Amino acid sequence: MSRLVNAEHLRASYHTPDGREVTAVDGVSVHIDEGEVLGIAGESGSGKSTLGAILSLTARPPLYVDSGSLEIDGQTQALDGSSKIPRTWRGSVVSLLPQGAMNSISPTMRVRDLVVDVMRAHNRSVTKDEALDRARDRLASLDLPTRVLDAYPHQLSGGMKQRTVTIISTLLNPRLLIADEPTSALDVTSQKALIDMLLQMLEQKIMSGVIFITHDLPVLRTVSNRIAVMYAGKIVEVGDAEELTTAPRHPYSAALLSSVLVPEPAYRKMRVYGIPGAPPNLAHPPSGCRFHPRCGLVMDECHTEEPPHVGDQLRFSKCFWALKNPGQSVPLKAVTASSLSETDTVVEDDDDTTSRPDDEPSEVPA
Ligand SMILES: Nc1ncnc2c1ncn2[C@@H]1O[C@H](COP(=O)(O)OP(=O)(O)OP(=O)(O)O)[C@@H](O)[C@H]1O
Ligand code: SF4
Ligand SMILES: [Mg+2]
Repeated sequence: MSRLVNAEHLRASYHTPDGREVTAVDGVSVHIDEGEVLGIAGESGSGKSTLGAILSLTARPPLYVDSGSLEIDGQTQALDGSSKIPRTWRGSVVSLLPQGAMNSISPTMRVRDLVVDVMRAHNRSVTKDEALDRARDRLASLDLPTRVLDAYPHQLSGGMKQRTVTIISTLLNPRLLIADEPTSALDVTSQKALIDMLLQMLEQKIMSGVIFITHDLPVLRTVSNRIAVMYAGKIVEVGDAEELTTAPRHPYSAALLSSVLVPEPAYRKMRVYGIPGAPPNLAHPPSGCRFHPRCGLVMDECHTEEPPHVGDQLRFSKCFWALKNPGQSVPLKAVTASSLSETDTVVEDDDDTTSRPDDEPSEVPA
């Protein structure tokens, strides 16, 4: 696979009204190959949407990009405002499907009006008919009814509305689509339909790569080739989707996995724990490893030193435990049971209440 996107040393901060700077993405680098889906996982507040805003060139005050570069198809743009990024990049090179997009479209506009607006915002010379022809062709190529163009948003089901906004955000055939929580408000059937459509779009080369952001690891596992796990503004682990969700090498990824029901034999019989504690306030992140106050494997150096990068670009964990246990997956019991406080929620499974028989359908779209 050839390289599509290289984003390096991204750092961005929110400037708060009381004069503080909250760094929500701190030293993040990611790459994506042609045809690849990169999943970004992490708890609420870990910086996923901020990373999406940086990469889609949509960062606006109070968010400021402090540093970083974005290379697509061999062309590099500095993101810190030091040089002007060509207008054509937004929408046709990178496009964002924002978090909550399907609920923020104007209820008084028909889908066709949105289509025309989006196409003409990019290129004033596009006629209404040309814009609608493009949308009709796109819907037809994805086996969707062209009559949705005449509908108002409230006339579409949630699933169809989300598929429609996804199509609108890719009308300009972006090289990279960043989809921020596109499945979060959908039922399981609609989640599967949206994921199938995204994969079909990749196959048809409507776009060449996707960043799929969600807190839902089981969904990510079905859609992504690789997953990057974020914690408190940093990427703490990267790996092949299957491997990361079955053999995580960072205690936070393991804790995240243990807090959801994953249809994986090794995990099914586990207790389901919430991750102890809460994510840190990014205005005052903890010293050393930012996960150390919540980590069941914490050691002395974690309190004060930046964790090392263990592994290569495709498979790494930023962690002292990983340094001492190269290539090992984190023992799940160690990150959950030992770090639980009395107030942490537990779904017991001593009587196997969290396990499912093999033939029972999982809650995750297959
Ligand atoms: N407008 C803002 N002003 C100040 N800080 C902000 C603002 N928006 C976000 N932040 C900070 O940035 C951090 C990351 O926010 P972001 O929206 O990127 O997280 P997220 O991972 O997308 O969360 P979610 O899963 O809830 O969508 C938050 O924890 C918060 O501290
Ligand atoms: S560096 Fe230390 S505190 Fe951080 S995740 Fe690894 S073991 Fe836990
Ligand atoms: Mg978000």
